[in-house]
Amino acid sequence: MWTVQRSDGTVATGWVLMPLRLFLGVTFLFAGLQKLANPAFFRSSSPASIHAQLAGAARSSPVHGLLSHLLGIAPAVGLVIALGEVAIGIAVVLGLLTRVAAIAGMALSFGLFLTVSFHASPYFTGSDIVFFFAWTPLALAGAAGAPALDTWLARSHEADAVGGHGVSRREVLSKGALTGIVAAAVVVGGGLTALLGRVVGGTTSSANGAGTRSLAGGGSGPTGTTSPPTTAASSGGGGSTTSPAGSTPAGTEVGPASSVPVGGSASFTDPSTGDPGLVIQGKAGDFVAFDAVCPHAGCTVAYVPSAKIIACPCHGSTFDAATGNVLNGPAATGLIPIKMAKGSNGDLYVQK
Ligand code: FES
Repeated sequence: MWTVQRSDGTVATGWVLMPLRLFLGVTFLFAGLQKLANPAFFRSSSPASIHAQLAGAARSSPVHGLLSHLLGIAPAVGLVIALGEVAIGIAVVLGLLTRVAAIAGMALSFGLFLTVSFHASPYFTGSDIVFFFAWTPLALAGAAGAPALDTWLARSHEADAVGGHGVSRREVLSKGALTGIVAAAVVVGGGLTALLGRVVGGTTSSANGAGTRSLAGGGSGPTGTTSPPTTAASSGGGGSTTSPAGSTPAGTEVGPASSVPVGGSASFTDPSTGDPGLVIQGKAGDFVAFDAVCPHAGCTVAYVPSAKIIACPCHGSTFDAATGNVLNGPAATGLIPIKMAKGSNGDLYVQK
């Protein structure tokens, strides 16, 4: 049944596509399970969350209008993506409804291209466009004679047809039953993976945002108040300076400095751009802040305290935590520094 060579000596298309089929299937299965096992992916406050990725994409994606609406249901969107990846991965590995699964893979890859990696530069450093085209041979040829449930069902159909039995109904039932089994495996396996992820604390990623808190707005006075009474210290990305006590730097309050742990970080919203910001307190009283939008393709970066670097969860760019300069690409430029000052009232102020 699984002959590699045809009678004319050529290799069956399905065998030629087998390495690609297994790679795509295993990769999508792994990607889906990794998302399900990572609680931070579903926690909107995490910079590694689907919410943060959608928020980043909503600023610059060509489908930003749609993404703005999806922000309110970001965890559900993340769940659909993760379960979709698992279902596509299993179907392609087993070779069940291979064409349908490949077309679903193309649709998902194209959706991720429009949202996550549309601004990747050069364009080929964003993996989603590559995945989109990698799916096309399988969408066109399916399992094409290679070991697969599709091939087995088709051969059974042919054998029964030769015997003169009414086979169409039987084949439909077999395919339906197998699809049902795969769907049940996706739901049960996905649920167990998510449960396991929560029990063990989630996948530890270099950029999962561990240690990043949100700046709780309003220390003394409402957010947006300018001109704090006095300033103890001020700093900007790439270095810090100390302002004379009693001076009053203009700025917009973003939250209490106490929300930023020494050796850790906190997120905030840059009042002048609306972008997510990242403030790091490397040493006590030494604050540096950056626009947290990755210059590669717009994902939200996070501080990694153990390595003392800033990392992007999407394609792995890393940045110097003191200057924001690129340490490793694909990002070609560094993070934009944000000037930040600490008022004597203990609040942090973003300065122009
Ligand atoms: Fe690609 Fe950050 S968005 S590395």
